[in-house]
Amino acid sequence: MTISRRDLLKSASAAAGLASLPAGMAGAATSPSTSPPPFELSTGLVEQELKAGAPKTRLWGFNGSVPGPVLRYRKGDRARILVSNGLSVDTAVHWHGVRVPNPMDGVPFVTQDPIKPGGKLLYEYPLLDSGTFWYHPHQSSFEQVPRGLYGAYIVAESKPIEVDQDVVWLLSDVKLGADGQQVEDYGRILDLANEGRIGNQVLVNGKAAGAAQTLDVRRGERIRLRLINAASARIFRLSLAGHVMTAIAFDGQAVQPHPVEQITLGPGMRIDLVIDCLQAAGAVFSMTDAGHRGAGEIARLAYSREKSLREKPMAAAIRLVPNQMAEPDLKRAQDHYIVFQGGMRGAPVIGTIDGKPAKINEIMEKEGITWTMNYSAQHEHALMHEPLFHFKKGAHIALHMINETDFAHPMHMHGHFFRVVAINGKKTRFQERRDTVMMGPRENVDIAFVADNPGEWMFHCHILDHSAGGMMGTIAVQ
Ligand code: C2O
Ligand code: CU
Repeated sequence: MTISRRDLLKSASAAAGLASLPAGMAGAATSPSTSPPPFELSTGLVEQELKAGAPKTRLWGFNGSVPGPVLRYRKGDRARILVSNGLSVDTAVHWHGVRVPNPMDGVPFVTQDPIKPGGKLLYEYPLLDSGTFWYHPHQSSFEQVPRGLYGAYIVAESKPIEVDQDVVWLLSDVKLGADGQQVEDYGRILDLANEGRIGNQVLVNGKAAGAAQTLDVRRGERIRLRLINAASARIFRLSLAGHVMTAIAFDGQAVQPHPVEQITLGPGMRIDLVIDCLQAAGAVFSMTDAGHRGAGEIARLAYSREKSLREKPMAAAIRLVPNQMAEPDLKRAQDHYIVFQGGMRGAPVIGTIDGKPAKINEIMEKEGITWTMNYSAQHEHALMHEPLFHFKKGAHIALHMINETDFAHPMHMHGHFFRVVAINGKKTRFQERRDTVMMGPRENVDIAFVADNPGEWMFHCHILDHSAGGMMGTIAVQ
């Protein structure tokens, strides 16, 4: 198994001309003279003031900041991103929600070799979809993401909807000690087996959430607000006083516009909102989080004193043109099942770890494994076992997920979007397209998709401590 996967990896990256090259070589080796230089994205150490007047916090960031730069493209563009690794540990960058060819997916040991310290790798692919996406390492993500390695990735529609402001709020959190530095307790078994490592300071675009996070608006304006949850474990439940929030996209994919009162945003998930600002000049309204460890006020809309821009909502349509992708047909879909077990108080009936049979009482302390998917679990560095499923390219798949744990899990699939068909057997109203779906405690979620992107794709919980604790597997499409 080990050998064949290594060989496969080598041939895949060689075929795409993308082997990890020594510093300075990648650009020269892969760019034809006509293409513009790639966008450069470098990981490295960062010191950042998270709150006005507070001591700087040591973080890891892309291009010297947390979050990294907002990557902006237009649908149909070709992304060319040269990642260089300025850290002293291996990394790899995943483009969450962007449908890429498999060798570009940024998953170490599955789609590429890790990028070594000082190494570079050129990622290059066409952008098939518009939407709100994000990027983050897929290597030791339970540590690298909460240290600050994440950024927004926006692909504009060919014809964007008309708004006065297009705003990104990239949400995350950090766990700070009294000295203002991160508590270095990544990967504790207690977090792996529970809700994950939840921070004590919520960040919006890399700054402390709260009153200082103010979006200035003018009466009559229409705002498009893109919310991205880049936290490793925190599930937000967001509401906004005084305004109707109209959802127009989930995970970057168009949904029938509809009002939402409280938004559940698990790690990895996104929502695009349209908000018409029709309150009085000078007024202030809060967005608040009422999640289980609710952070209270996250940010504010503050109305200027200017005279209003409009007295009624802008007339322009807000419905997004859906991205083109194969539509699953439930009548001819193959049914597959996946059962999730584990967590504190819910010992998993472990079958295998990294492909080897394992006993329950040995796994927790020795292996750090706390969850299973279909009775198997694996470590990130040892993704050498069999995929959870093998699908024929083009197959229509109905995947029935059964959560036998007491915890919520935002389940994320790479390389594909799926329809959320039913929750606990009840058809969903919007049959929304997503790449990450929230599976509540003891909940069953049915999804459907066409397995049309060849390769081996991650399918994992986006609570990064859960995936580190075994809640990750792959799906092979051939
Ligand atoms: Cu956002 Cu597999 O990750
Ligand atoms: Cu989980």
